Amino acid sequence: MSTVNIAIDGPAGAGKSTIARMTAKQLGYIYVDTGAMYRAAALYIRENNIPDCEFENALENVDISLKFIDGVQRIYLDGRDVSELIRTPEISMEASRTSAFPAVRARLFDLQQKIARENNVIMDGRDIGTVVLPDADVKIFLTASPEKRAERRFKELSEKPDCPSYEKILNDIIERDYQDMHRETAPLKKADDAVTVDTTNLDLQESAEKIRRIIGERI
Ligand code: DC
Repeated sequence: MSTVNIAIDGPAGAGKSTIARMTAKQLGYIYVDTGAMYRAAALYIRENNIPDCEFENALENVDISLKFIDGVQRIYLDGRDVSELIRTPEISMEASRTSAFPAVRARLFDLQQKIARENNVIMDGRDIGTVVLPDADVKIFLTASPEKRAERRFKELSEKPDCPSYEKILNDIIERDYQDMHRETAPLKKADDAVTVDTTNLDLQESAEKIRRIIGERI
């Protein structure tokens, strides 16, 4: 029996992960956050000071795996749960930088396709509708203005100690957008057959409702 695959792509902070997680729960699908895989690879590269020219060899021997507990993804690096460790601004930037290397993308591509072959999934990332799952049943391109995305991230982080300034968050978002859109391999872009949802003027509930409607019309 073939599985149902839903691809959600878009820039950092557009709300992909929150909306995808909520929607997957409602549908009883698995939510796959591919950004976490790139973050885990970046953490490994950072922790082991691996130079760019050695990514291919180094990543061949590292085990990056996912477990889904009540539909929620945990990510493991050589058996160590790194789900929280990968959520720092430094790893965000390093994941954006290192994900431009074909050796890094090739290492994660098979894993992503295998999960989608074996499960009904909502998979989010940058190249899911264009490269990883070109035959996905539904493709959504979720976006919002950089200012709005920075504002949301700032609100999210403002309770925490060491919260970066709004300006720093906005600059990081603009830099990451540029890197993700301008790399040669699998850049962030809308698939021709994806539906664009701009959440700049929508709250979370409205965005999720819109996406549920789009999925409902196609499945
Ligand atoms: O979604 P995220 O912010 O956790 O992703 C971190 C970085 O990983 C992002 O800046 C680019 C890279 N990435 C990618 O190249 N392809 C994907 N499918 C997902 C993430």
